[in-house]
Amino acid sequence: MYRNSSISGAAPGSRLTLAHFVKGKGPFVCLTAYTTPMAQLVDPHVDLILVGDSVGMVLYGYDTTLPVTLDMMIAHGAAVMRGSQHALVVVDMPYGSYEQSPQQALANAQRVIAETGCSAVKLEGGQEMAATIRHLTQNNIAVVGHIGLLPQSVEKTGGYKIQGKTEDQIARLKADALAVAAAGAFAMVIEGTLEPVAREITGAVSIPTIGIGASPTCDGQILVIDDILGFTAKPPRFAKKFADVTPVIAAAVKDYADAVRAGQFPTLEQCFTAK
Ligand code: KIV
Repeated sequence: MYRNSSISGAAPGSRLTLAHFVKGKGPFVCLTAYTTPMAQLVDPHVDLILVGDSVGMVLYGYDTTLPVTLDMMIAHGAAVMRGSQHALVVVDMPYGSYEQSPQQALANAQRVIAETGCSAVKLEGGQEMAATIRHLTQNNIAVVGHIGLLPQSVEKTGGYKIQGKTEDQIARLKADALAVAAAGAFAMVIEGTLEPVAREITGAVSIPTIGIGASPTCDGQILVIDDILGFTAKPPRFAKKFADVTPVIAAAVKDYADAVRAGQFPTLEQCFTAK
């Protein structure tokens, strides 16, 4: 099997729990995945798999994450759970599934947990989401917060803009971080901020911060799997391509097409014949 029980100290057959994500015990390695085969590849190497609503842009070709539905997140969350046994799996609450009221958020988060078996949900927003985060955590739903650049708010904020450039923004980000931690989130993503702001927040909050376009001093780092594999045509500046698998795929597809056209595939080896 693919599992490597030496990673992060997990015993064979056990999945990491919230207790693993202790401030100061990082760096925590986090990555997105959306499907069973990708989860199988990612799982042995990471502490946390996020089934991000980035699935809408990465797998479905949407321009933003806004069209992603709760049913999509549940289907992909369940697929990732089937492909993992080591990492803690967190599923994103999509746009429209939690903002209306803490009660709406709880009902939908309970569906996510019950129908996927994941350990926690993530939702975007700072002070304005504190009451919702508190309601979820008081009802035994583990929550990862998400502050800074909020992809679900791009239509409101006018695009993917780096946060923390003005005194007002810095003060708001700090207040957001403190509010999310005080509300009971066990970790928070900080996305797309100036580095010193993410560094200061990481030093100020009692829970692990997980950076993306944030700071190397964050307690953990997260990237979108397709960005590190070279699938994204124009990856964000904060992403790093650790490999480009696209030429390998293109070459395999071309070889298959050439073989079919040349009458070289299938051979009798791939056919069923009567004994
Ligand atoms: O949806 C997502 O993949 C995310 C990460 C970029 C943090 O929220």
